[in-house]
Amino acid sequence: LRSARLTELENRYGIQTTAENTEVFNAADVVILAVKPQHMDNVLKALSQALPQALTGVKLVISVAAGFPIEKIERHLYPPLDQDAKGLLPIVRVMPNTPALVLAGMAGLSANDFVTETELRDAKTILEAVGRVIQFEEEALHAVTAISGSGPAYIFYFVEAFVETGINLGLRPSQALTLTLETMKGAAKLLEETAEAPAELRKKVTSKGGTTEAALTVLEQHGVKEHLKEAIRAAAERSVALGQME
Ligand SMILES: NC(=O)c1ccc[n+]([C@@H]2O[C@H](COP(=O)([O-])OP(=O)(O)OC[C@H]3O[C@@H](n4cnc5c(N)ncnc54)[C@H](OP(=O)(O)O)[C@@H]3O)[C@@H](O)[C@H]2O)c1
Repeated sequence: LRSARLTELENRYGIQTTAENTEVFNAADVVILAVKPQHMDNVLKALSQALPQALTGVKLVISVAAGFPIEKIERHLYPPLDQDAKGLLPIVRVMPNTPALVLAGMAGLSANDFVTETELRDAKTILEAVGRVIQFEEEALHAVTAISGSGPAYIFYFVEAFVETGINLGLRPSQALTLTLETMKGAAKLLEETAEAPAELRKKVTSKGGTTEAALTVLEQHGVKEHLKEAIRAAAERSVALGQME
């Protein structure tokens, strides 16, 4: 933990900070766990020391740690608690993504049995400050991880290909980037606003013998869609494996 960073956060956001996690845990009604997954065990171990005394009312725990199942959080925090006290410590797990940094996040959320409608609403309100939220059964968070969690990186990869080719074809880097980004945003908007299937929209812009068809033929020949599916499945499988690691 870097104390200089705490001071920076205090100054920038006018918030209180502390190097003691239990201090935050005792004081807050909503506790967001956003440390790296490999630090979660240690952090949770320390928090469990403050239980059950820390529970003066409902304390909603929201974890964003990737691949860290709710059951593992429960295993740390619930042993010192009886059934009623567990009801005061509902747990929500979230798979966010980095576009949250520009308020365009897409998060998957999953709740344990102690989460009531009120806390679910609170969790969603917090997450909706930086984008959209959909609730899932926890098992589906592997798929969420593979699609929206890791998804921005796949898109960046496509952007690299578009921009590099644009430059090779003689465009300036800034021009290639603008053309690429506006095309991606436009395509996304068209999908959203027409609600047409992507394959339909694709067929509409692909005339026989035309330029788009020339490109799509190469994509088909190289099995790009199949490879992409394989890549997304690999992310989901990795998510399952990480969740099983002790
Ligand atoms: N980035 C994503 O797109 C994404 C997506 C889904 C889930 N997540 C999850 O979000 C979490 C954070 O990821 P990140 O990329 O934001 O990591 P990060 O930049 O390393 O942030 C981790 C933060 O935790 C602080 N920290 C470290 N040890 C701590 C401790 N013992 N007690 C309290 N705070 C501590 C760090 O403080 P210092 O700055 O002082 O080191 C840092 O501010 C991870 O669990 C990750 O799996 C991230």
